[in-house]
Amino acid sequence: MKFIRQKLWITLLMVNVASILGGSGSPQTRIPDVHYEPTPQLIVEELLKMAEVNRNDIVYDLGCGDGRFVITAAKKYGARGMGIDIDPKRIKESIHKARIAGVMDRVKFIEGDLFETDIREATLVALYLLPELNMQLRPKLLKELKPGTRVISHEFDMYDWQPDKMGRLGRNKYYFWVVPTDVAGKWCWSLSSAKGEEQFTLTLAQKFQEIDGKIKTPVQTVSALEAYLIGSQIGFLLRYRPPGLVVEMRYRGQVNGNTINGTVEVNAGPFAGKHKWTAKR
Ligand SMILES: C[S@@+](CC[C@H](N)C(=O)[O-])C[C@H]1O[C@@H](n2cnc3c(N)ncnc32)[C@H](O)[C@@H]1O
Repeated sequence: MKFIRQKLWITLLMVNVASILGGSGSPQTRIPDVHYEPTPQLIVEELLKMAEVNRNDIVYDLGCGDGRFVITAAKKYGARGMGIDIDPKRIKESIHKARIAGVMDRVKFIEGDLFETDIREATLVALYLLPELNMQLRPKLLKELKPGTRVISHEFDMYDWQPDKMGRLGRNKYYFWVVPTDVAGKWCWSLSSAKGEEQFTLTLAQKFQEIDGKIKTPVQTVSALEAYLIGSQIGFLLRYRPPGLVVEMRYRGQVNGNTINGTVEVNAGPFAGKHKWTAKR
């Protein structure tokens, strides 16, 4: 009886050690969330073109497979990049291909879990995962990536985070987003004319990059027209009607925390001309 119990313990111990150490003796990470299937090279090229990748970019591929997004971005556009994959075979393969492509000075590949990787330095993130993984990853992308960072995905979208651009090539679909900054709330500014200072208030509702605004002018409250948010660039048209006039104000600015700095171009009335614009939340 004692002998049987001892044997059982030894067997359990061996199973545990085997599950901690992979066949090669290196620590084994957890099972991949999605199996390996490479994005066709043509789609890689299309997606990088859509994202306007350039030499200033740091491209992250989360679940990089054989590293083709990162290697192509480095070789063709001079970008730097990082590939992360949970499967050590893929990392070996990526490094081998990067050497052949002569881009080892600009790229890195690391074995790891994409959900636990620090992605803050990325300026472009490439994905080819699964719909549910995109959804699981979405809060991390929106929290950790800087506003203006681009995200591209082969095949799968981000549910109600609408893409800024999308494309299709044969049976392959692909998507592009720009990470938006937070702009929801009440923004105030004043404009000065010969008559004195006049106050404006913009109340913005936001769903990802989609914004909807109401503007209180000295004369009336109107909806913001042609409103856009691209990363931290914001713009809208304010059209209102003081007596005998149609005033159009074209606002464009850069959001930085609770401040927007930019310009406003006004067609007519006491504010006609182009001015600096600063709004505070
Ligand atoms: C469909 S392949 C895409 C490969 C490459 N991005 C491409 O588009 O050609 C998905 C890759 O994600 C890797 N993967 C799966 N789960 C992962 C995880 N949690 N962390 C990092 N990589 C993972 C797989 O090993 C596989 O190589």
